[in-house]
Amino acid sequence: MATDFTEETAAEAVIESFAPDTDDRLREVLASLVRHLHAFARDVELTIPEWEKAIDFLTRVGHQCDDERQEFILLSDVLGLSMLTETISNRKFGVATESTVLGPFHVVESPARALGDTIDLVGTGTPCVVTGRVVSVDGTPLPGATLDVWQANDQGFYDVQQPDVQPRTNGRGLFTADDQGEFWFRTIVPSYYPIPTDGPVGELLKATGRHAFRPAHIHFIVAAPGHRDLTTHIFVAGSEYIESDTVFAVKKSLVVDFEEVTDPASAEKWRVGKVPFRHADFDIVMQPAPKA
Ligand code: BEZ
Ligand code: FE
Repeated sequence: MATDFTEETAAEAVIESFAPDTDDRLREVLASLVRHLHAFARDVELTIPEWEKAIDFLTRVGHQCDDERQEFILLSDVLGLSMLTETISNRKFGVATESTVLGPFHVVESPARALGDTIDLVGTGTPCVVTGRVVSVDGTPLPGATLDVWQANDQGFYDVQQPDVQPRTNGRGLFTADDQGEFWFRTIVPSYYPIPTDGPVGELLKATGRHAFRPAHIHFIVAAPGHRDLTTHIFVAGSEYIESDTVFAVKKSLVVDFEEVTDPASAEKWRVGKVPFRHADFDIVMQPAPKA
């Protein structure tokens, strides 16, 4: 005889309903999800109006998604789930550079640029040169490593957010490290900025008294043969919100001094054109890929 569905037996009843040939990993993930979800509902004594409100919220999150906007990822970001998943998947091994979230503003086709080129196509803001080396964990340089770079402008907007204001590909570039694994490019110091708040995620931030800002940063995806791809940022030391990133993506090891340089000879060396400018220098240490 079937037993009644009770608070105590509910989760196991759902899990036992999975067919015996269910994929092992799917069973493991779903069983854990059901147990935690039921434990959560019991813990807060979830009411029917609250359940309805949650369904309405998630429905609106879905309606806010299209080819250019992913409100579910944004929700995952502000709940810390993106960073937690990122951190679990990229447990730090020794000296390898730490990873952080990809974010929604990466585009597939960053324009290839030569070392030393500028990614700033507008000419406002504080000039800046970014230099460094890509090496493996044992210090061996990685010539030919590629660095896909993107950033917001000095007003805190990405090119794709201002199609009528910024030239397409402003703040973006794909660079290839030289024979010594070295890279350099010119840009402007990016600004801190708010994540999109005109959807349900914005409502959630407002309802919980949270701000929407991310500290100033430059994104990187670095790739080198025989190594795991690295998705990371460098953060501008001293930026607003460096202590309270709304997507929890700051790691201390990724905070870099954007040092002020006033020496005209350095401006000439780095083709910056004027002083003062900023110089950010950091090495990227890549983790060897696991052997197949
Ligand atoms: C970004 O850095 O581009 C970003 C990351 C997470 C949410 C929104 C923006
Ligand atoms: Fe960003």
